[in-house]
Amino acid sequence: MATGSRSEEIEYVAGRLLIDPARPPEPGWLRIAGGRIVDMGFADLPPSGPPDLGGADRVISPAFIDAHLHIPQIDAVGCDGLPLLEWLDRVVFPSEAWWGRGRALHDARTAARRMAREGTVGAAVYLSSHPDASAEALGLLARLPMRWLAGRVAMDRRAPEALIEPDRARAARRPVPSVGAARPAEAGRLTVSLNPRFAVSCSDELLAEVGWAVRDGAARGATPWVQTHVSEAVEECRLVAELFPDSASYTDVYDRFGLLTERTLLAHGVHLSEAELRLIARRGSVLVHCPTANTFLRAGMFDLGAARRAGVRLALGSDVAGGPDVAMPRVARGMIEVAKARAMAGLEAEIPRPAEAWRMITRGNADALGWSDGGRLEVGAAADLLVLAPPASWLDEHLIGRLIYNWTSDLIEARVFAGRRVDPARIADGPPAAGM
Ligand code: GUN
Ligand code: ZN
Repeated sequence: MATGSRSEEIEYVAGRLLIDPARPPEPGWLRIAGGRIVDMGFADLPPSGPPDLGGADRVISPAFIDAHLHIPQIDAVGCDGLPLLEWLDRVVFPSEAWWGRGRALHDARTAARRMAREGTVGAAVYLSSHPDASAEALGLLARLPMRWLAGRVAMDRRAPEALIEPDRARAARRPVPSVGAARPAEAGRLTVSLNPRFAVSCSDELLAEVGWAVRDGAARGATPWVQTHVSEAVEECRLVAELFPDSASYTDVYDRFGLLTERTLLAHGVHLSEAELRLIARRGSVLVHCPTANTFLRAGMFDLGAARRAGVRLALGSDVAGGPDVAMPRVARGMIEVAKARAMAGLEAEIPRPAEAWRMITRGNADALGWSDGGRLEVGAAADLLVLAPPASWLDEHLIGRLIYNWTSDLIEARVFAGRRVDPARIADGPPAAGM
């Protein structure tokens, strides 16, 4: 079986369709074929009779998408008490070094199962810097019914030897192997990205190499996706200013190496100046707000309003293990609560409505990741759905707020990924497919 998970094909789903989270869900049905929504109607029952899944009191939502997460950190959640750079040194780098010693498949499976359990069908993720472990993990991810933008982390300084040796050894070889993962750019529902960790971990040479890969891909009509971190914590920003004295700003470091395109995802951006926000907006890059991680690491309170006023494209990410939670409704709640905390601290704040937050973790994140057929209920879209079973008393104008603030995976009665019902506990339990 191609997906590596036991799953059953679904043809009809019925219930209250959450087409626009700002409007009450409409009773209706969806017909699915070939992993896509091929027809829909607004009546209690599909023309063929009772549906395979759902019912009049069920809510049908697009499944969630996470715009930023580190798979090798799935077992490092909750190691609290350290600011970003110390946390990287004492928690993250050891856990990623460990991941490279035989943990890749186990942790990729664990991450995928946890995400699926919480209703996440797709994500933009980082692996580690190990070429073999990352290739193994990519092979597993490509077999799943989930959707991925995933890349080997590129890093060549200021970290343990085990993590920076791969890029140093790579750069010393002739001909120099690609800075990305040794896999085709697309396989199954997976797209491979370039993931230079952040400016602190990357020499000028490494960033320049990623820039060349971006330009080379663009010239061939296939600009690669780039994922990196920017301006997350104050001490990190100070260090970047020291390491790149010729750059006008942190964002300018990436821009000078040609890393900012419409296919660039920049995580955090908590301490960006207005000029940096405008530069990101001009380049069309996406800023991935990671509210739960920013709170966990006490990195700061992201100013959603400032990013919006500058015209920056925004997405929302769990940033596990900086963020403690893979559940996107809880990340959405984190976004609202950080905005409220800003307001209570007397700072300028734009407080998103629950419907807006729900839209971000579905259609908004799908658009940010280039999945214009994802995160939505419409004919032609990918059939990535959740059948939710909230109490009947929640079916009022506060439905979305109730779902966000009461979130538990128990609210999900069924998950349909690529048109098949998925059991999260069985994801990735098949044998590896040949060639993976
Ligand atoms: N900056 C560079 N690497 C990381 C990481 O793994 N997590 C977070 N939160 N920030 C980073
Ligand atoms: Zn991150």
